[in-house]
Amino acid sequence: MLTSSATLVLSSDAVEATVRHHGLDQTLALLVDRLEEAMVRHDSARTVTPARSGFNYERPHPGLVEWMPIHELGRDITIKVVGYHPKNPATFGLPTIVSTISAYDTATGHLSCLMDGVLPTALRTAAATVIATRRFARPDSRTLGLIGCGAQAVAHVHALSRYYDFDRILVHDVSEPAARSLRERCAAFGAAQPEVCDPAEILRESDILLTATSVDVGGGPLFGDLPHRPHLHVNAIGSDFPGKTELPLSLLRRAYVCPDFRPQAVIEGECQRLQPEEIGDDIVAVCQDPKAYAHLRNRLTVYDSTGWSLQDQVALRLFAELAGELGLGEYLEIENTGGAANNPYEFLGADIAPVPVLTVETTRPA
Ligand SMILES: NC(=O)c1ccc[n+]([C@@H]2O[C@H](COP(=O)([O-])OP(=O)(O)OC[C@H]3O[C@@H](n4cnc5c(N)ncnc54)[C@H](O)[C@@H]3O)[C@@H](O)[C@H]2O)c1
Repeated sequence: MLTSSATLVLSSDAVEATVRHHGLDQTLALLVDRLEEAMVRHDSARTVTPARSGFNYERPHPGLVEWMPIHELGRDITIKVVGYHPKNPATFGLPTIVSTISAYDTATGHLSCLMDGVLPTALRTAAATVIATRRFARPDSRTLGLIGCGAQAVAHVHALSRYYDFDRILVHDVSEPAARSLRERCAAFGAAQPEVCDPAEILRESDILLTATSVDVGGGPLFGDLPHRPHLHVNAIGSDFPGKTELPLSLLRRAYVCPDFRPQAVIEGECQRLQPEEIGDDIVAVCQDPKAYAHLRNRLTVYDSTGWSLQDQVALRLFAELAGELGLGEYLEIENTGGAANNPYEFLGADIAPVPVLTVETTRPA
């Protein structure tokens, strides 16, 4: 029996108000905990994750819009629709990643929740990185390197700085203004001050490296196979499309490579260039048996982050819960389910005054 035909709409204002109320650090910590719990409990037999798909185009600007579905059997379906338009910041002053996340009731097909996905994507991606980094990096890591200083970099500097006591954050971007302005964008949450460096210094000095670039398809790797610390842990975030990769192949081949979601990573992630036997266990296996992977903290490791719909499901559920406690969000009757089930025209018979039709004078340009 359908109890509500309304959809909970969590606009960007509601998402921001939720984060403000709970605090950025606390929201991130909750997301890290919920995501880790979801990995530990993950049972692939109870979840259906069709391959993500979408439209990829060159005009009017290069980009793609894709959908990322997940069905928890017996519960609900979550779908994130995400746009990737790397010219957005310079051309329109908009983020590269623009998205919404929605949930559907599988008893009826009803859209139960629709939420902004921009801030939740940055937070859930950084939360997933924290989980992988805590499994693979040394706990005494002091230097964070960043290549790519856009939106995801901000969330990652924030998130990783909550779990590691960094003395230095070394950053590089092909856009010098992006690299230089990262310091200002990270000032609010009291991380170590980012220092602009070249990739060789970043590789040489870092304990943990994040690559989060909008490198073009076929434009990688971002750097050559440069000398690095033996225990370096790399979080490769930007490789999430066929042909779009960030790391040198020889580095990958020396590393223990852990994909976030293997079936997707072998098509879109750094794993797309590896043979099956060169790919390590996925992050779910690592979270379910952390002791078995603890020795990897002393070697080169790569977390191949392509972005998994399970992360969006966890983020949507957490924001719906937190916003609900605060009475935030709006319930809207988006779907027309109010009339008789077998008569979509029933509303025409209702005793409601017709809406007056306005006539507008228009003149054709000469
Ligand atoms: N794995 C995930 O779950 C996940 C989630 C969100 C975004 N992403 C990916 O992360 C990447 C970054 O996203 P964003 O939102 O920060 O984008 P953004 O546009 O805000 O930032 C990207 C930055 O990369 C820089 N860049 C491009 N090519 C470079 C190169 N060759 N070397 C150094 N810097 C370079 C750009 O100048 C820009 O500053 C994108 O590729 C996006 O698809 C992955």
